[in-house]
Parts: sequence; C-alpha cells; structure tokens
Amino acid sequence: MNLILLGPPGAGKGTQAKRLEQSQGVAQVSTGDMLRAEVAAGTQIGNRAKAIMESGELVPDDLIVSMLSVRVRAADCARGFILDGFPRTVPQAEALDSMLASMGITLDAVIELRVNDAALVDRIAGRFTCAKCGTGYHDSFHPTKLDGVCDVCQSHDFVRRADDRRETVAARLQAYHSQTAPILPHYRALSRLHSVNGMADIDTVTADIQAVLARLQTRQSITAN
Ligand code: AP5
Repeated sequence: MNLILLGPPGAGKGTQAKRLEQSQGVAQVSTGDMLRAEVAAGTQIGNRAKAIMESGELVPDDLIVSMLSVRVRAADCARGFILDGFPRTVPQAEALDSMLASMGITLDAVIELRVNDAALVDRIAGRFTCAKCGTGYHDSFHPTKLDGVCDVCQSHDFVRRADDRRETVAARLQAYHSQTAPILPHYRALSRLHSVNGMADIDTVTADIQAVLARLQTRQSITAN
C-alpha cells in the first residue's frame, strides 16, 4: 500500500504513521524526521533548513522533492510507504504525481486527519520524544508509564522539538492552511481522499484508518477478480 497522511501540525500523522508501519508492513517516510536528521548532522541541507523550520515556515520545494525522490526508491519502500508530511504544497503534489508515474507506482489513498486548530497547540506543546529510541509521548495524552522512564527502552533522556514553541505553532498552522490545504481538492478529484476524525482518541483514529484501508483492500480485490 502507498499512502499519504495529511493534516495540520499535531494532527497525529507521525503517531498514526508509526502504527501503520507496523500493521501494514510498509515504510514511514517523514520529511520532517529526514530534515531533523540533516539538521542534527550539520549537513548542507540541514544548515539551509534549520532556521526555516524553527520559524514554522516551509522548506523550499526543490530541496524537499530531491530528498524525497531518493528516499522513495530505497529498498524499504519496495513493499509500500506512508508519506508523513509530504506533499505540503501544490508543486510538491505535482512532483509526486510525476515521480510515482515514472516509477510505475499507484497511490492507494490519501488519509486526511481532520482536527480543530485550537486543540493542536496543546497537543504540540505537550509533546516529547525518547532521545534514545524515538518513541513519542505527550505530557497529558500519552505519558510514560513510569515518570521519566521510556516505556520501550527504559532510557531517562527525552527531547522536545525546537519548533514546538507556542508562537511557532501559529506560523506552522498558517502554512498548513495557506499552502497545504489547497492540495486536498486535487486528491478529492482523483477519488483518493478519505477523511478521518483526528479529534478522537489515538486508538479510535487508528481503528478508523484501518477501516478505510480494509474497505479499500476489499474493493481492490473485487476489481482484480
Ligand atoms: P513535520 O515534522 O512534518 O511536522 P508537522 O507537520 O508540523 O507535524 P507534527 O510532527 O508536529 O505533528 P503530527 O501530525 O506528526 O502529530 P504527532 O503524531 O506528533 O515538519 C516540521 C517542519 O519541517 C515543518 O514546519 C517544515 O518547516 C519542515 N517540513 C517538513 N516536511 C516538509 C515539506 N514536505 N515541505 C516543506 N517543509 C517541510 O502528534 C502530536 C502530539 O499529539 C503527540 O504528543 C501525540 O502523542 C499527540 N496525539 C496524537 N494523536 C492524538 C489524538 N488522537 N489525541 C490526543 N493526542 C494525540
């Protein structure tokens, strides 16, 4: 399966992509994670992206598209992928169409996580991640079971993202509404768009996405027979 997860910052794209990666056996491709790795490594791409990300603006399309076109050709994407945070502009969506066509790959679904902007600031401001294994948590909605200890690897080191300050979140939401939401009609016209209520609790959102994918797989197997 080849999927796109769309939604504003804090909608739950990363949380759900990690779960889908496990249940569907496909690769999570997060352009945000890729950029943060470039920033941490101090590469040329990272140095170009760092200040833009911290301001809440979008990184230029040319840089993102060239990074993504290498990533989707990697071996772990051969069984399928979940694009998390890409495409984010109309030119990125157009570049993805051409990229997939040239690779002979079909996009199965675009899952839009619908959320209220007001709830997102609290979600983002409360988010933290294990510095060792990358497991994501939230101060209120998904705390560690033992205070200060990662549930998965028992590390005591946690990090918070530089762009998760309340004032930056407003700029990120603005970028979503002005530059990313305009790509929704493109996928609706292709009958690829499925909207899920991202305000439900995390398990319910996962179940709703799984229901969409199950319907899709049934339809695809009927068409194939
Ligand atoms: P990116 O890393 O993609 O961040 P984002 O889109 O802003 O999304 P987030 O990672 O903040 O949120 P999410 O939707 O993944 O939510 P999460 O699951 O973590 O991009 C960062 C920056 O990189 C951009 O601003 C831009 O500068 C640049 N960039 C990246 N891609 C780009 C591109 N294609 N083009 C240009 N620039 C690009 O959940 C958030 C929190 O809420 C967590 O704590 C979680 O536990 C909690 N939570 C999740 N779901 C629920 C729920 N249902 N109920 C309660 N809590 C929940």
